[in-house]
Amino acid sequence: MSLEAIVWNGKDLKILDQLLLPEKSEYISVKNVEDGWNVIHKMQVRGAPAIAIVGCLSLAAELVDSSHETSEDLSKAVSDKLAHLVTARPTAVNMKKAASELSDLAQTLCADGMKPEELKKKVVDWCAQMLTDDVTTNRKIGDFGAIAIIEKSGKTKVKLLTHCNTGSLATAGYGTALGVVRSLHSKQQLDHIYCTETRPYNQGCRLTAYELVYESMPATLICDNMGAALMNSVKLDAIVVGADRVASNGDTANKIGTYQLAVAALHHDVPFYVCAPTTSIDLNLACGTEIPIEERPQQEMTHIAGVRIAAPGISCWNPGFDITPASLITGGIVTDLGVFKPSELSGKLKNQSL
Ligand code: MRU
Repeated sequence: MSLEAIVWNGKDLKILDQLLLPEKSEYISVKNVEDGWNVIHKMQVRGAPAIAIVGCLSLAAELVDSSHETSEDLSKAVSDKLAHLVTARPTAVNMKKAASELSDLAQTLCADGMKPEELKKKVVDWCAQMLTDDVTTNRKIGDFGAIAIIEKSGKTKVKLLTHCNTGSLATAGYGTALGVVRSLHSKQQLDHIYCTETRPYNQGCRLTAYELVYESMPATLICDNMGAALMNSVKLDAIVVGADRVASNGDTANKIGTYQLAVAALHHDVPFYVCAPTTSIDLNLACGTEIPIEERPQQEMTHIAGVRIAAPGISCWNPGFDITPASLITGGIVTDLGVFKPSELSGKLKNQSL
């Protein structure tokens, strides 16, 4: 069994099919942008950073064997294909930001007179670099978050709750909120980690639980409707979640169910932390109501592994994400640049060309 969601050898891209985990560990080959769009849309790969990395690497895989007569042709193809990849899933901002940065780079190099072969290499290298950069970023988030949580708790070991999957499977490796958990565990500062099952796609019981068991962390799974009851019976030191997009006021879109945990956390006086790379922060949006929320197919709710569990004929509402208002993010927003209060975010990051 593997925790490596994305495998790139400089030419070929493979992704671990997350629809099959934890029963089967099978890799799928992603040969081009159309394959990339499909695996993202079908959620065979998911998690905001992993979506962007796989999207860009699917372009790299396509480019490696292609040839373009002029740099103008190549640069236009790069921009068009990236724009298509952005449409695969709307809520996470990471793919959109990567697309904008890479398109700008290709256009600038083209305008500077770079030859097509060299331009192609620059684009492919840029995409490959995302893998190493993401792990470095996650380790920083992990350490900043671990220090902040230990300091605030005043304890040597902490009990946490997390939601969805923000680990190695949602990133190039290590993870964001789960990176914080990993960092605490590596320093013997993790007393216990609870994870939610995360209906309807079950990222928590299939993927997070898999990662926690894989690394032998002291962990317990709960159903999504047990969060408040858990907080009432166990003194949690923090809740750590990831983000698909953070607006400039700190309002955060993350997996559906995050908001209800934040509401319960305030009631039970449990510090609530959002852990996200700066690539998930969208300073172009003033607040959470501007973040597009993806609606997923009803089938994801009515069926599990192809077996119907809901009464035939019932209609479903299946938003993939919800917005947690900044006022409920009481612990802070843990980024690769440090831990910020939601109100500090835009001021601290506005000079970082986000
Ligand atoms: O629908 P998903 O599985 O892509 O949603 C994932 C989440 O909501 C994660 O919490 C978020 O992308 C952060 S992953 C590091």
